[in-house]
Amino acid sequence: MSTVQDALQALTDLTPSREQILADTLAGLSRTARQLPSKYFYDARGSRLFEQITHTPEYYPTRTELALLNRVLPDIARVMGPRLHVVELGSGSGRKTALLLAALQDLVAYTPIEISRAALLSSIDHLAPALPDVEMLPVCADFTRPVDVPAPEREPARRLLFFPGSTLGNFASEDALALLRAMRQTMGDHGLALIGIDLHKDPALIEAAYNDAEGITAAFTLNLLVRLNREVGSDFDLDGFRHRARYSTERLRIETDLVSQRAQDVHLDGRTFHFEAGEAIRVEYSHKYTDDGFDALVRQAGLQVAQRWDADSPAYGLRLLRTL
Ligand code: AVI
Repeated sequence: MSTVQDALQALTDLTPSREQILADTLAGLSRTARQLPSKYFYDARGSRLFEQITHTPEYYPTRTELALLNRVLPDIARVMGPRLHVVELGSGSGRKTALLLAALQDLVAYTPIEISRAALLSSIDHLAPALPDVEMLPVCADFTRPVDVPAPEREPARRLLFFPGSTLGNFASEDALALLRAMRQTMGDHGLALIGIDLHKDPALIEAAYNDAEGITAAFTLNLLVRLNREVGSDFDLDGFRHRARYSTERLRIETDLVSQRAQDVHLDGRTFHFEAGEAIRVEYSHKYTDDGFDALVRQAGLQVAQRWDADSPAYGLRLLRTL
């Protein structure tokens, strides 16, 4: 392959097929406690709505992480040392990635890992022009499983996995552990990981972040049903379900549901799913962490927290992980 663009064109697009989405939807609706996977929020409209959420006054995680990153980047760059191969889980988080890559000394290579080829293309398109000496090695893969990372032409000192945004929090506890174990493998024995995590704090502040006054988060959640109606042919009545996001102080997580507003039937693939008034479909978790809880979680995956950088208010953390 002669260029990054050629290499990208040759990659298989692993975006889930209609059959996969249909199978997941049927399985989720057939459970006693109904649920749908939050990964299906992110179609084109969903991704735009999420971007809008990050600009609402209530949603503090994105701007808090960005400000924290800006403040502690010189320290991060010093701790990491030169000649890194940065591997990002996801297709590049815009300004955060650009900031990190620009701050690192003598960066060798950058690998975004992402299931959508289109998202990979656009991330490389954005980042490559400012980093002409950095080898771009995108990988189309599911980062929740161990990934074979291509070796750069120039030998890096070590590999750094970058996983910002508190996206880990969207995984149910067992899945978060499986993901951390996959990260441990992708990192290799001498690798590091820099991960953003939202921290437990005043529940009112957390709940407000998932119930913005303008209703953008509600539109984002309901867009899941819009997508399913369009892509798998369900007939969810969009006025028949309401967004509800509540913080569980016991489980330290936002639990987001779509709640049926009345008794109703939903049809999909020749089947009928009956909903009682008030019945909920669980559509997302956003876990918040304590230091002790997070340390214990990563230890189960063979990792340890090597360094912490915290924003005071609202509380948010960047954690540097290394292997145990
Ligand atoms: C992408 N993820 C970390 C967001 C979160 O905070 O859980 C998704 C989100 N859902 C509602 N608002 C934001």
